[in-house]
Amino acid sequence: MTKVLVATVKPFAEAAVNQIKTTFKEAGYVCSFFEKYESQDDLKKAVADAEALIIRSDKITEEIMNAAPKLKIVVRAGAGFDNVDLAAATARDIVVMNTPGQNSNAVAELVLGMLVFQARNHFNGKPGTELKGKKLGIQAYGHVGKNVARIAKGFGMDVFAYDPFVDRTAIEADGVTVYDNLKEMYKTCDYISLHIPATKHTIKSVNYDLLSSMKQGATLINTARKEVIHEDDLLKIFRDKTGFSYISDIAPDNREAIEKEFGNRCFFTPKKMGAQTAEANINAGVAAANQIIAFIEKRDTTFKVN
Ligand code: 3PG
Repeated sequence: MTKVLVATVKPFAEAAVNQIKTTFKEAGYVCSFFEKYESQDDLKKAVADAEALIIRSDKITEEIMNAAPKLKIVVRAGAGFDNVDLAAATARDIVVMNTPGQNSNAVAELVLGMLVFQARNHFNGKPGTELKGKKLGIQAYGHVGKNVARIAKGFGMDVFAYDPFVDRTAIEADGVTVYDNLKEMYKTCDYISLHIPATKHTIKSVNYDLLSSMKQGATLINTARKEVIHEDDLLKIFRDKTGFSYISDIAPDNREAIEKEFGNRCFFTPKKMGAQTAEANINAGVAAANQIIAFIEKRDTTFKVN
């Protein structure tokens, strides 16, 4: 019987855990859960027997893979797979997959929730502003970006997007105006929402040059990855542009310094919350389970990323 380990520092919602268990039980697989673990050493011990792994933002390094000699497949229940050493996996012939789109509505709803929170001064009782009629620029129009656009239009926002990898007619079909020049979008919008993955091309790419082109009073929202922000430049922008705000679901390393110096011009969730809904956990977790079963039974490699 195939042994699957669900290793999640940040556990799935109970309903998702139950559905994952049922999915594997019906397929005749042995599935165990290793949640809220405290160290990579603990993870190393836990993976010893695993033939398949389901993870979230858990770090799967070469060392972890070496500690799992029977491992055939790792499925990241979610979108970003920058936490998995793809080269090491490929060298070991381990298939790595993600579950694209499964948690995107949850992240998109959080974006709009955080925008309202910021526009209303963190609900401190002072008059704020409305989102209706404001310009929102979406950097990267994947599953999350598309959902952000849909919900933002419900708020009456004017929605713009920059994504050189997506066919512009598909974006325009959503009633979204396409920018070919990223800086122009930064110059025009009241809000910029980041949805780029962390890759060697994007890490630290949101830098002084881009941020300094933002409108006076504009807000940057990041529910993607902290690594895409140039954190030293972020600090400079906070100081140079007195109306600039930055809100994020993934706090910068210099979180405390920024919070202390800039107060309500920033907001960081205590823990990454974007995909933390029962629905997203069920969608991504069960998709991951089914992808493992399809791979083991039929060598189905849809959603393979390495
Ligand atoms: C993703 O890449 O899918 C999101 O960042 C969610 O990550 P999480 O599963 O660690 O919450």
